Amino acid sequence: MVASVQWLFLLGITTIQFTVTKTQQKDDREKKPQSVRDLFNTTSCIPPPFRCPHPQMQFYLYTRSTQEKGELLNTLDNNSLTYSRFNTKYPTKIVVHGFGGGRNLSPSTDMRKAYFTRGNYNIIIVDYGTLVREPCLSQIEWAPRFASMCIAQLVDYLQYHPVKPVAPERIHTIGYSVGAHILGLVANHLNEGKLGRITGLDPTIFFYMGNNRSRDLDHTDALFVDILHTGAGILGQWGPNGHADFYVNGGSSQPGCAHDTIFQTLSCDHTKVTPYFIESINSPVGFWAGPCPNLLSYLIGWCEPKDTEYVLMGEHLTHRARGVYYVTTNAKPPYARGFPGKSRRLRSVTPYS
Ligand SMILES: *[C@@H]1O[C@H](CO)[C@@H](O)[C@H](O)[C@H]1NC(C)=O
Ligand SMILES: *[C@@H]1O[C@H](CO)[C@@H](O)[C@H](O)[C@H]1NC(C)=O
Ligand SMILES: *[C@@H]1O[C@H](CO)[C@@H](O)[C@H](O)[C@H]1NC(C)=O
Repeated sequence: MVASVQWLFLLGITTIQFTVTKTQQKDDREKKPQSVRDLFNTTSCIPPPFRCPHPQMQFYLYTRSTQEKGELLNTLDNNSLTYSRFNTKYPTKIVVHGFGGGRNLSPSTDMRKAYFTRGNYNIIIVDYGTLVREPCLSQIEWAPRFASMCIAQLVDYLQYHPVKPVAPERIHTIGYSVGAHILGLVANHLNEGKLGRITGLDPTIFFYMGNNRSRDLDHTDALFVDILHTGAGILGQWGPNGHADFYVNGGSSQPGCAHDTIFQTLSCDHTKVTPYFIESINSPVGFWAGPCPNLLSYLIGWCEPKDTEYVLMGEHLTHRARGVYYVTTNAKPPYARGFPGKSRRLRSVTPYS
């Protein structure tokens, strides 16, 4: 029941957007799906056989010395990791993009650049770009589950590796949009151990496309789960579901999400969330966020956290953070506003003026 309401809501939105933007879309009309029916019949559906590793779901390793050219990891061959630049001394990040992403596309590229500006890392980009140019609706229920099985296979490959083993607890995974949901499912398929951290970057939309909440990203999926919400308002408030949930600028209506095709509506990566996270990696001032139980209190300005209650959102977040936090950003980069002044309330200033 709930599921069908969500579907109707989703279909309603896409229909409206088509009507509005029909005229602007002449050029793209050939290439892009124009109706929900097209989405059921897109070439982006995962081709069989459905086995991991899947030829169209690839794992590319990047290190500081191989920033431009990733090394393809083969989870069926231990030598592949042995002879790569993977170094167990470096922190390991696994990054899962959303619809329309890929290893050579922003924000995967920007995120790598930010990390390598900071130091040495093993960054593994899960590249399934050829599969998710457009979401294939007939597979949307199980495709993320399939992707999560392949990622679990990668995590097990790393933990049992004879030469360069890395325990899941030492791995930080970052997923945006549908990628965040995929990471929430990895736990179900791991042989043993638990992921150290999952950072979910605006997983809102996908929630509305499934009908099984037990498959959503939540705090049981890793030792520490932090979630950044920026587009929650588009399809309704979601969460809190992690150990720590961050609502940026109230958690909705970040500017810049394109809505001119059904694909962009579904894939809208809530364009601001990844730049916020990427900026947090090297920000000299930081995104200091204060606890506040709900949006209303935040909007009214009721929340006046103590200095000690503020936490740094993003990469450098303390794993002791618990609960719901709010943070306001600048409209243009640098987005981070630093630590709020002593008398400043945690409040909703108009962020885009
Ligand atoms: C799906 O696409 C194929 C090839 O483009 C076409 O022949 C077929 O009629 C389409 N099916 C539906 C249900 O649209
Ligand atoms: C890699 O090595 C581990 C430990 O020796 C072994 O259990 C595993 O089966 C090997 N994996 C592959 C793909 O050969
Ligand atoms: C929801 O997903 C879980 C895990 O995949 C499964 O065990 C459960 O049966 C599902 N529930 C429904 C209502 O489909």
